[in-house]
This record gives sequence, C-alpha cells and structure tokens, in this order.
Amino acid sequence: LGSARRARLPPGEMGWPLVGGMWAFLRAFKSGKPDAFIASFVRRFGRTGVYRSFMFSSPTVLVTTAEGCKQVLMDDDAFVTGWPKATVALVGPRSFVAMPYDEHRRIRKLTAAPINGFDALTGYLPFIDRTVTSSLRAWADHGGSVEFLTELRRMTFKIIVQIFLGGADQATTRALERSYTELNYGMRAMAINLPGFAYRGALRARRRLVAVLQGVLDERRAARAKGVSGGGVDMMDRLIEAQDERGRRLDDDEIIDVLVMYLNAGHESSGHITMWATVFLQENPDMFARAKAEQEAIMRSIPSSQRGLTLRDFRKMEYLSQVIDETLRLVNISFVSFRQATRDVFVNGYLIPKGWKVQLWYRSVHMDPQVYPDPTKFDPSRWEGHSPRAGTFL
Ligand code: HEM
Repeated sequence: LGSARRARLPPGEMGWPLVGGMWAFLRAFKSGKPDAFIASFVRRFGRTGVYRSFMFSSPTVLVTTAEGCKQVLMDDDAFVTGWPKATVALVGPRSFVAMPYDEHRRIRKLTAAPINGFDALTGYLPFIDRTVTSSLRAWADHGGSVEFLTELRRMTFKIIVQIFLGGADQATTRALERSYTELNYGMRAMAINLPGFAYRGALRARRRLVAVLQGVLDERRAARAKGVSGGGVDMMDRLIEAQDERGRRLDDDEIIDVLVMYLNAGHESSGHITMWATVFLQENPDMFARAKAEQEAIMRSIPSSQRGLTLRDFRKMEYLSQVIDETLRLVNISFVSFRQATRDVFVNGYLIPKGWKVQLWYRSVHMDPQVYPDPTKFDPSRWEGHSPRAGTFL
C-alpha cells in the first residue's frame, strides 16, 4: 500500500496468515454471542465505526455505523457488490451477487418492479392467503407437533415458486426445496470442499437445483415455441423475453442463476422472520393479545361480500407491522452485506483502499444503543410513529 496510504487505514488487525479474522468471527457466532466479534474491535480500538481485518481470504474494512453504511450503500461509483467467492459459487456467478454493475441494474429493474407494485401484490394476495390458510389448517389437523421452521419454509417456498415459476408440480417443488435446505447449510459453513463437509453438500445441491430449473426452462421454451401458454406471465417468461438495448437476450445460465438466487432469497428470509415473529409473540402474551385484537377488528371490518384479504386490509395492520419491523431489527437475519471498493475512498475519515472488500455490519447498527435504546429488548412500540433515519434500519 505504501506508508502514506497505510497510515490512513482504519484501526484493526489482519490476524493470522490465511485465517485472518475468520476464527474470531466464527467463534462469536457459533458460541451464540454474535455481537462479541465487533465488540472486541470496539474494546481494543475505540468507537471508530470502521475497522480493518482479513476475512474470506481478502483484506476487508468492517463498517459498523449507520452513517458509514449509508455512505457505502449510496455511492455506486466507489463500491460494487463484493460477496465472498464461496457464496458466489453457491448462489451463481451469473446472479446479482456477481454480475457487472450495469447488468445488475438492468436485471434488477426488470425483475423487481413487476413483483413489488400495488397491482402485483394485489394479484399475489389470493394465492398467499389460500396457501397460508391451508398450511395453518394442515398443521392443526396434523395432531402431533410439527417442525415449525421447516413447515414455514415449505409454505414460503410454495408462494415464491408460484410467483416466479407460475407454480410447479409437488415433486418438483419438494426436490427444489430439499436442495435449498442443503444449499443453505453450506452457505453458513466454512468453504471446505471435501467429502463430509457442508459446503461440499451445498455445491452438490446447487448442481441439482440448476438441473431442475434447466428442465423447467427447457419445457417452457418448448411450450413457447409451440405457442402454448400457461396463462399469465411469470418471472421465467419475463427473463426469457428480456432484451438489452442491443437486442441481446439472457442465456440459460443467466436465467437459471437469477432464478436460483430469487427462489432462495424469497423464501429463506421470509420463513425465518415469520418463525421469529411468532416466537416473540408467544413469549410476550400482552403483545400477542394486542396483535390478535387488531386482526379481529380488521376481520370484523371486512364486508361480507369480500372474499379474502385485500392490500387495503394489510395497510390497517399497524401493530403487526411494528412487530415485524422489530423482529427484523432484533433478529438480523441478514446481519452483514458485502461490497468492494472500486477506488480509494474515505469513510469516517479512514481510507478504504481500491480493491479491498467492505462488510456492512447491519447487525451493529440495529444493536447500537444510541440508535435503538435498550437494543436487546423486543419492543415493537419503539416503531410507533417512528420513521427510521436513512441507514439506521437495514
Ligand atoms: C424478511 C425478508 C427479507 C430480508 C430480511 C431480506 C434481506 C436482504 C438483504 C440484507 C439483502 C442484501 C442487500 C445488499 O447486499 O445490497 C438482500 C438481498 C436480496 N434480496 Fe432480500 N430480504 C428479504 C426478503 C426477500 C424476498 C421476499 C425477496 C424476493 C422476492 C428477496 C430478494 C432479494 C434479492 C434478489 C437480493 C439481491 C439484491 C441485489 O443484489 O440487488 N428478499 N435481502
């Protein structure tokens, strides 16, 4: 780096050769004290909000404040995505986690807009409503206990498969879902590609996912060639039809990687967050009673001529929405995200050298007592009339 640039680096330590900060990072999370990792930097180097370390085989700057995260997230000239190689190999080198910036922007616009708008959400509601109701009924009828997270993931997976693939037969859905379970075990493990290790299993699961999705894509292309339409346009159709300004279409590998990523991102976090919100409500009977009363009042307000819920009904769920925001804050499923500096850039007065990786510690922001007083307490009422400052709710 040269001594002048080195002098401007954030405080921290690069750790042991090759291992760097990974051992301390994994130890903190595996021992159930995830905040211990960043706390050790704060203890040793003060509250500078940025620290240097060596993680996932790269020199890395850890950003732990709302202002720092906001700066990095908003500066598209100085930062691009910078996920670890092992994650890219699992999610897909042609998916959002690795594609070039312009392509990322284009495909993101193409795929996010149609699933986010008022009309799209209104269109998905009846299916979501039916899927949730039938899942709740099946669990109740089951008699014995059910594995709650597994069932929730199954339920959210059914919904995401409907949105992205226009549904799939039960065997395909189950095959995909089993492979995703194995993929996600590997995503949270050390990237050791040896027999018996979770990462190896995850790479195998990815190959299975690609094969299943290739089959679905081949069928879709064949049906389209014959002019047969399943009715409606799902994400697979949108990706097949997408063209850039030069008329170039996405090839099969690109379509499949984007789908591997979306199907995973769309069910895994939602399944987990639903589980945690339920756990917190069960642990807090007064909050549960308040959330239930709100639901019952909404049900009473629905005219008898209306079938199911509408988006307008959801907008009335003020307390439940506070419960969900508080769950998202406290649970921190996506506790960190990854970027890479494309040029020398300063954050909080410290240098992030060109080429270095950047980790945005959403978890530290959500657990900062200056942003959220008494941060370990589950307190949905902190969201009452509260609009979070940019960078404080990630
Ligand atoms: C509780 C629910 C969810 C949480 C907490 C969550 C959280 C996150 C976070 C923190 C990121 C990383 C952002 C970044 O690095 O810039 C992310 C990325 C992403 N999520 Fe979610 N997510 C959730 C639900 C969903 C759903 C339902 C979908 C799809 C329908 C989805 C699709 C994606 C995609 C495609 C990306 C990559 C975005 C990109 O690189 O442009 N997520 N999510």
